[in-house]
Amino acid sequence: MLSPALGCALLFLDISIQWTTQETVPPKYLHHDPETSRQLMCDKCPPGTYLKQHCTARRKTVCAPCPDHSYTDSWHNSDECLYCSPVCKELQFVKQECNRTHNRVCECEEGRYLELEFCLKHRSCPPGLGVLQAGTPERNTVCARCSDGFFSDETSSKAPCRKHTNCSVLGLLLTQKGNATSDSICSGNSETTPKCGIDVTLCEEALFRFAVPPKFTPNWLSVLVDNLPGIKVNTESIERIKRRHNSQEQTFQLLKLWKQQNKDQDMVKRIIQDIDLCENGVQRHIGHANLTFEQLRSLMESLPGKKVGIEDIERTRKTCKSTEQFLKLLSLWRIRNGDQDTLKGLMHALKHLKMYHFPKTVTHSLRKTIRFLHSFTMYRLYQKLFLEMIGNQVQSVKISCL
Ligand SMILES: *[C@@H]1O[C@H](CO)[C@@H](O)[C@H](O)[C@H]1NC(C)=O
Ligand SMILES: *[C@@H]1O[C@H](CO)[C@@H](O)[C@H](O)[C@H]1NC(C)=O
Ligand SMILES: *[C@@H]1O[C@H](CO)[C@@H](O)[C@H](O)[C@H]1NC(C)=O
Ligand SMILES: *[C@@H]1O[C@H](CO)[C@@H](O)[C@H](O)[C@H]1NC(C)=O
Repeated sequence: MLSPALGCALLFLDISIQWTTQETVPPKYLHHDPETSRQLMCDKCPPGTYLKQHCTARRKTVCAPCPDHSYTDSWHNSDECLYCSPVCKELQFVKQECNRTHNRVCECEEGRYLELEFCLKHRSCPPGLGVLQAGTPERNTVCARCSDGFFSDETSSKAPCRKHTNCSVLGLLLTQKGNATSDSICSGNSETTPKCGIDVTLCEEALFRFAVPPKFTPNWLSVLVDNLPGIKVNTESIERIKRRHNSQEQTFQLLKLWKQQNKDQDMVKRIIQDIDLCENGVQRHIGHANLTFEQLRSLMESLPGKKVGIEDIERTRKTCKSTEQFLKLLSLWRIRNGDQDTLKGLMHALKHLKMYHFPKTVTHSLRKTIRFLHSFTMYRLYQKLFLEMIGNQVQSVKISCL
């Protein structure tokens, strides 16, 4: 007879065995033991190991770790590990290196998918068709015809169909109804036609930046106003600028307004001429690049900080000439990102554009533009303009702000 205490302990043991076996019970295989001529149920070997010795009546199976460059990824009773796949194929990269439990995983480069043995380019959907499902490393792009009210006017492996412009919402008349390959065309008198309106251009930004103090004092704007020559910007406008814009942008907006109000004065005329010269230079470098919707989107994606969204890009494509679209989007990005320097943002973007398979001509033009704006002659021009504009008084204020 078992004493009650011992019975309890046995019961406990029984439960604990059930617990552990549920978690780690190895699968078995049938093995003929030559020693005893009996059929034994041996434990299989776990992933990462190979079978070194079959079990015997007295001893469990012996498993040993796979040698380097080989693996097993399931329970098994093989006395060898599998060789890891050799180096990846052309146009593939190693997604996961091989270790004892996993084979090497190769994947097609960005923009390609695996078909049989080859990494093929993702299909591009022609005009009239949009991307329904973007391609993955395993699957080709799925295109679909644009349904009523939608269009696609480009060949792209990423762009979905987009909605036709709703002219009435913009307060315009519909002059040509859109179809699957073209957007609707609106018309209206010039007052209601939406304007592209680049607020502060790259050249103005580059110039005005010299007037932006490294630290803003609360009365900075008033100090600047007092020291600018010519017709003073009135208090109401200053208040409006303060309400609508953040600190760096306030300086830009103020200088812009001052420039407009004083455009008939000789000194400001010269500044405007020089800025025009700069704008022409920028246009010469990137104005000719007709960027598609998809390219603009990639460019905006690759800028750091807060992103300029698809709606903004669409609106910009409708309201701006192709030569101005990119510049307009850059100015939207600057405004959205507070005190960022657009040129620095662009340089950041250039480093990250590689993955978008961007046309070399465009990245080349962007680099040239940055170099142009950074170039020594431009730098001297800024300084000259700035000194002319503000004179020595503000220079000392600026230094005292430091
Ligand atoms: C082997 O690689 C897989 C997949 O990358 C990972 O989950 C696993 O932890 C790795 N094992 C070891 C032992 O490093
Ligand atoms: C344009 O928008 C208005 C108001 O949202 C809507 O009633 C109208 O159906 C839209 N037109 C088209 C062509 O989508
Ligand atoms: C779609 O509209 C454009 C511009 O109006 C036109 O050139 C084109 O032929 C039209 N396509 C079809 C399939 O109707
Ligand atoms: C660029 O766009 C303009 C206006 O849309 C067009 O007239 C011109 O043919 C385009 N140029 C190229 C090279 O695509």
